[in-house]
Amino acid sequence: MRGYHGRVTSPGPAELPGFDPTVPSEARVTDSFTGGKDNFAADRELAKLALEIAPELPMVFQESRKFADRAARFLVDAGVRQFIDVGCGMPTPDSLHHVLRPVAPDAKVAYVDHDPVVVAHGRALIDITGPVRFVQADARDPDRMLDHPDLTRIIDLNAPVAILLQSLLTVIPEDDVATAVVRRFIDRLPSGHGYLLVTHAVRDIRPEVTAELAQLYQEQGTVKGEHKENVRSWKEVEHFLDGLRLVPPGVVPLPDWRPDPGEPTIDTSAFWVVGGIGQKP
Ligand SMILES: C[S@@+](CC[C@H](N)C(=O)[O-])C[C@H]1O[C@@H](n2cnc3c(N)ncnc32)[C@H](O)[C@@H]1O
Repeated sequence: MRGYHGRVTSPGPAELPGFDPTVPSEARVTDSFTGGKDNFAADRELAKLALEIAPELPMVFQESRKFADRAARFLVDAGVRQFIDVGCGMPTPDSLHHVLRPVAPDAKVAYVDHDPVVVAHGRALIDITGPVRFVQADARDPDRMLDHPDLTRIIDLNAPVAILLQSLLTVIPEDDVATAVVRRFIDRLPSGHGYLLVTHAVRDIRPEVTAELAQLYQEQGTVKGEHKENVRSWKEVEHFLDGLRLVPPGVVPLPDWRPDPGEPTIDTSAFWVVGGIGQKP
């Protein structure tokens, strides 16, 4: 995919989704799991069905937030002051710029989502003269997204930068599209000081649970694209970071990724979301 330019998706119009409260949206369903108020009846109904399949979901989201916090502090220690959070979801008190404020008050954050509700809520909460932007763009079109004027106003891709794909690739089921998107993001990162973070649900740990969740989200029209029986495998997720220097301990269940000293450990034998960071050589 080196040198690829353009939208990497199946044929069809390059449209950003509109607002339809009757179709559950990934961002609003996630919001309802994490105690947010920015969701509608259809979102809460899907969240209820998902919880019946996987009662551990609130814990999984809580651990994802803790991982994001540790990863952000690791990246700051590595010298990164620019972050592109792709598929950021609804703004919350734990959103990245809040986590960064005590450790890197000068950090710039471009939040990207294709969901207009996410972007509208985000923009209502931020000071548009500050170092934070909400960008409405489609990650399936990486160049258009990275060259969006709302993003380039604060982000310089020649300086240290991290692209964060937290649970984004899980909702891009087509393997060729997801791979092409990731390759293009890596192409655009600066050598030596560009980082890619990926988190992803995997089918290896509790295959029946992830398969049922995948079916539910696809049937409800929340996850679009090619219909898949289950989410990707751990190995497939590791392959997204091919060609990068893997930050130790690699791609592991989120709670096992560089836990803070003294942080209570949890049994991760049944934890089905993995994540890791790669540095562009
Ligand atoms: C499962 S949620 C994850 C939200 C957040 N990153 C987290 O980890 O809690 C996926 C998010 O990606 C967004 N999204 C899905 N496909 C996208 C695309 N092609 N371009 C941009 N955003 C997308 C959804 O609107 C949603 O906010």
